[in-house]
Amino acid sequence: MPAAFDSLPMLPRDTLGRSLHDLRISVTDRCNFRCVYCMPRAVFGPDHAFLPRDGLLSFDEIERLVRIFAQLGVEKVRLTGGEPLVRRDLALLVARLAAIPGVRDLTLTTNGVLLPSLAARLKAAGLHRVTISLDADDDETFMRLNDAGVPVARVMAGIEAAEAAGLGPIKLNMVVKRGWNEHAILPMARRFRGTGRILRFIEYMDVGHSNGWRLDDVVSADEIIRTISADFAVEPMEPTARGEVAERYRYTDGAGEIGIIASVSRPFCGDCNRARVSADGQLYTCLFATSGSDLRSLLREGASDADLEAELRRIWSIRDDRYSELRSAETVDLPKVEMSYIGG
Ligand code: GTP
Ligand code: 5AD
Ligand code: SF4
Ligand code: SF4
Repeated sequence: MPAAFDSLPMLPRDTLGRSLHDLRISVTDRCNFRCVYCMPRAVFGPDHAFLPRDGLLSFDEIERLVRIFAQLGVEKVRLTGGEPLVRRDLALLVARLAAIPGVRDLTLTTNGVLLPSLAARLKAAGLHRVTISLDADDDETFMRLNDAGVPVARVMAGIEAAEAAGLGPIKLNMVVKRGWNEHAILPMARRFRGTGRILRFIEYMDVGHSNGWRLDDVVSADEIIRTISADFAVEPMEPTARGEVAERYRYTDGAGEIGIIASVSRPFCGDCNRARVSADGQLYTCLFATSGSDLRSLLREGASDADLEAELRRIWSIRDDRYSELRSAETVDLPKVEMSYIGG
């Protein structure tokens, strides 16, 4: 073994040999949207019980966890929600996380509407990039999907604010749900090619158990590529990093790249190096988990850093998740945790 690897023998591997590299931290389960595929209004209505404030991990607690995760190999940290920008004073957390040795990529996934007021502060705090969700480029389709009356222009203003603040290049996420927005695939491709913004098409997934997911609602990666190819020639590109979720394609005329996240038709569990922490401090080793490990109790009951590290190592070493590869009629009905809670 080369000498460089001798110095890294202590990093944990799971039962399938996968390392721990990405950490996704949900900072709130609340959101100012009600996307039909994520927080359908019938379930997340006025009576929905969100997490109580004192149930959320504090910034001190999150910072402490991230320091320990970084010692175990985490280099990439993504803040999620719900909508992460509704968490008060988020820039203060960003500043703390940006200062942690080993954290090389600090990002967040947002619906974008709060970026005009927050982008500059987040950049100054040390945020590297943002990913912004946008499911259509016409108001009628987009407003049907977000179910919160938000027109496309509000998200475009967020994209522009992020770029002006230096948070680019921006990735855009478009979830494609059959019967809702597959007609927007080509217009979205047309609108964003040549802009330097990387549009990623996401197959609709069976996360949680409230979105009423059916396989028939999924528009597959192949179908998405066929749709785009009708107007624009694209060719596959090499992945940038091992374990990356998006397959990359480039327009052959040089107008930039797009991505496809094909979790349903081409699962990518084999390289999955992602851990997730919910806003109330539960650790999940898969997006489709039904239960997690209670880190908040450990933190609040006085566990030392060494205790926490040992527990994280133990949990990772027994991890065997590969839900998307095993997806079946039975697994779809499992009581999985919600996307807005685990953070996508
Ligand atoms: P980059 O590394 O910047 O490309 O970010 P990302 O693609 O990991 O992050 P983002 O939050 O934008 O996620 C894009 C989509 O991929 C979302 O729909 C996620 O839920 C989905 N996704 C991310 N990680 C996983 C995963 O481990 N498994 C599955 N099935 N889907 C994932
Ligand atoms: N399937 C696929 N993607 C989803 N997202 C939310 N719910 C789903 C789902 N059921 C996306 C959001 C956001 C990202 C974090 O996950 O649109 O871009
Ligand atoms: Fe909110 Fe994002 Fe879920 Fe839409 S997908 S409801 S913006 S958390
Ligand atoms: Fe990782 Fe689970 Fe997604 Fe597979 S389904 S890639 S194990 S989070």
